[in-house]
Amino acid sequence: MMSASAITEIKLDVQGDFPILQHPIRDQRLVYLDNGATTQKPECVIQAEREFYERENANIHRGVHWLSQHATDLYDRSRECTRAFLHAARTEEIVFTSGTTDSINLVAATWGRANIKAGDEILLTMLEHHSNIVPWQLLADEKGAVIKVVPMLEDGTLDQAEYKRLLSPRTKFVGLVHVSNALGTVNPVKEMIAEAHAVGAVVLLDGAQAVAHQVVDVQDLDCDFYAFSGHKIYGPTGVGVLYGKYALLDAMPPWKGGGDMIHTVSFSGSTFAPAPQRFEAGTPNIAGVVVLAEALKYVQKLGFDAITEHEQALLAYATEQLQALTGIKIVGTAPHKAGVVSFLVDGIHPHDLGTILDMDGVAIRAGHHCAMPLMTELGIPGTARASFGVYNTFADVDALVASLKKAQKLFGVGDE
Ligand code: ALA
Repeated sequence: MMSASAITEIKLDVQGDFPILQHPIRDQRLVYLDNGATTQKPECVIQAEREFYERENANIHRGVHWLSQHATDLYDRSRECTRAFLHAARTEEIVFTSGTTDSINLVAATWGRANIKAGDEILLTMLEHHSNIVPWQLLADEKGAVIKVVPMLEDGTLDQAEYKRLLSPRTKFVGLVHVSNALGTVNPVKEMIAEAHAVGAVVLLDGAQAVAHQVVDVQDLDCDFYAFSGHKIYGPTGVGVLYGKYALLDAMPPWKGGGDMIHTVSFSGSTFAPAPQRFEAGTPNIAGVVVLAEALKYVQKLGFDAITEHEQALLAYATEQLQALTGIKIVGTAPHKAGVVSFLVDGIHPHDLGTILDMDGVAIRAGHHCAMPLMTELGIPGTARASFGVYNTFADVDALVASLKKAQKLFGVGDE
């Protein structure tokens, strides 16, 4: 848990970059604290999307005309930009998908189908989002594989002793969330990857809640796969990334069939393009990919030192302010957390709380956060969750707390 002494001045002053924050909601200033669900978009990203459709739109890898070649060039440049962002070794290790869920399903349907056999073990953790559980359950059902789950300690950290105990030569795959969307726990993924590799397992990191908040260096982490979504890093919806080590991608069979993923097609059979094209069948989300590069450049310009410091200050302040209230329980108190505060208010269901806060223009998420096994383990139906981004301020936390006190008063709970 953060102490008040960890609170520093917030670093960033970028509210003006985000047009949506200038528009009132229910005649109130928008206090947007649902960044775990999706982030708002800066003007440069909105402008890049507009510019693409106004001046650059064409299909890629197909046309001989100038626009098609230009759009192809922009698409390819985004792949290189994404490679540099993740510190990957090769541009061919970057596959564009529709989002984290699509990226994980791709790995399950290709690498998984080719490599997981009856009796093999797939190791997941109690902190996983449904998108890193269900694809593996479908695969395990198909193959007769066994799913094991790393339990969690009371503070929301993973039980590392149990993790080590569960790893064995039977473990073929480890699916691990980098940062928990529901509790904010930052997992010690580098160490966990090394331990998984020691038994020969392949590791996929779900980076959906990590990439916008800290530097990700896939070579340093040595993960085999890394998945993230554009919309959680100030980019467009409908575009995402799968990083895979080239040797793994190269050996993976195709998943979706269609144009652009083939080498030759005849009615007696088809041959396939090398990775990453093999996994990008059909016309991709060209605008989404091109604009994603703009979002990545935006966060890189702000700098991850400043972003992390800013969000940690908000986390510390929010934690301190919420703890000072009567009848509030913070769920997830890991020593290493990203800017996420999940909490319960005595006597108020999280959904009711979310609805009341919304009347004050305060947007939070309430519910199970697509982590039902985690909520079941905690013995609760869900939580209220405030998740921070680069544009949030201490004033946003104050607005959350003021609105929360109002809700407590309305329900006749708390101090006032
Ligand atoms: N997985 C997203 C969230 O945590 C939608 O809100």
